[in-house]
Amino acid sequence: MRRAIYPGTFDPITNGHLDIIERSTRVFDEVIIALLMNIEKKPMFSIQERVEMIQQVNRWKHVKVDTFQGLLVHYAVSQKAQVIVRGIRAVSDYEYELQMALMNRRLEPSLETVFMMSAEEYSHLSSSLIKEVFVLGGSITGLVPQVVEERMRSKLGR
Ligand code: PNS
Repeated sequence: MRRAIYPGTFDPITNGHLDIIERSTRVFDEVIIALLMNIEKKPMFSIQERVEMIQQVNRWKHVKVDTFQGLLVHYAVSQKAQVIVRGIRAVSDYEYELQMALMNRRLEPSLETVFMMSAEEYSHLSSSLIKEVFVLGGSITGLVPQVVEERMRSKLGR
């Protein structure tokens, strides 16, 4: 039984995230999308709203949604996961991801980090860029699931 954790902020989930989840389901028996409850960041969506949106677009039987606090490695061990999945978009992601992967390995040597490359069409996507474009009136159609776009519209009263 190969269980992977796909951790992140997911504020909000994008089609790039969904692409990574789809790819992960082909490699692992079970995938847990784990949202970090980060009190420091000022998110657009509350943790409950983000969980709801992910549940609405979760079309996979073996993909679960959960939240966690504290160290990712502690959470992963508590879930009996062997792998942490992270999406890599461009070379610029690599340095930060490498730092995290090596620190996580130091903290918990039994956990492996697996990097996955998203489809090229999503390689420029990030939740922050999507929020910026949307707030400034640009179109984000095709970059996020429809439910997310609708939630963003109602959040900004559009
Ligand atoms: O979507 P993000 O913001 O890139 O996700 C970052 C995340 C949640 C994977 C990372 O911040 C994390 O794992 N935070 C939990 C605290 C932790 O374990 N920190 C040490 C990482 S080496």
